Amino acid sequence: MKGKINKIKILSLAVFSVTAIILLSFIFYNNNKKKQAPAAEKKLILGFSQIGSESVWRTRNTQSIFEAAAENDIQILFDDAQQKQENQLKAIRSFIVYQVDVIAFVPIVEDGWDNVLQEAKDAGIPVIVVDRKIKANQSMYAGFIGENGVEEGRRAARYLVNKCRNTEGPVNIFEITGTENSSIVDDRASGFREIINTDSKFRIIHSENGDFLRSRGREIGDMLLASNVLENGNTTNTIYYNKQKIDVIFSHNDSMTLGFLDSMEAHKINPKGYGTIIISIDAEQESIDALVNGKLNCVVECNPNHGQMLMQLVKQVAKGETIPRITYNFETVFTEDDNFSKYDPRGY
Ligand code: AHR
Repeated sequence: MKGKINKIKILSLAVFSVTAIILLSFIFYNNNKKKQAPAAEKKLILGFSQIGSESVWRTRNTQSIFEAAAENDIQILFDDAQQKQENQLKAIRSFIVYQVDVIAFVPIVEDGWDNVLQEAKDAGIPVIVVDRKIKANQSMYAGFIGENGVEEGRRAARYLVNKCRNTEGPVNIFEITGTENSSIVDDRASGFREIINTDSKFRIIHSENGDFLRSRGREIGDMLLASNVLENGNTTNTIYYNKQKIDVIFSHNDSMTLGFLDSMEAHKINPKGYGTIIISIDAEQESIDALVNGKLNCVVECNPNHGQMLMQLVKQVAKGETIPRITYNFETVFTEDDNFSKYDPRGY
């Protein structure tokens, strides 16, 4: 009897030991498997503050960034600042609280970013500046991706200098600028002046802020062209500002230029026989169409497709890599002298 009991005890012990061994091996195997399996890559989160949707160009710029984020499997936390710096500051602060991996923003103006950049730096979140530049210490952000505004201004002016090479002068220029205190206006204005100042016959007789808006371009046109409608209902093609004949309209973006053309149409002034040189920046499809139809003379491209380049930079900074201080996008110039049949659809 005692022997039988001992046998049962030994048997139970054996069963228990085997079960324990199986269980431990299972746990060990699973732990090991966890260690060996490649960790699933965490999706990067990009906080992106856009300034708004003041132009068709801007809408394409936002689209390009969303498309590229999807293609690169990057999640975007998006904020539309509705043209207000205070909204951008709030958005960037909320990205910091959310602990996004990278922050990108289009600064509506150049100044006033130091504190929020310091906060992002303290939180260890790299920041990329997009489209417009800022006045801040370079150590406060990882880098800039966007257009070369100074070169855009130079290109507009080079076209003009060449166009007027046989004109005696003076050549009176009416400038329509965009958002005040934005780097893009400063850059385009300085590039333009750098070139025209080489010949004293070029004179900027007035600069008017059109806020990059089509509605403002229309208003500025209405202001200038009101006196072009004569008492007998006919129109005159020569336009004046403060009794000075305007020879050139240099507009800092297509929206304002197209608004100006809307005004011309409303005043029954045919831009073709108009005699005033019109130069624009952006190269939206509608302004390229206007160029092809002889309503504009020159359109300097500002490329809104920043998305793919931005996402490459986002991936690099997220890995802790250093990126170039400045990355410029490719841009060209379209003029009345081009072979229009070679133009591809602009896509915006
Ligand atoms: O900062 C780029 C400028 O902003 C574009 O020329 C203009 O169309 C936009 O609104």
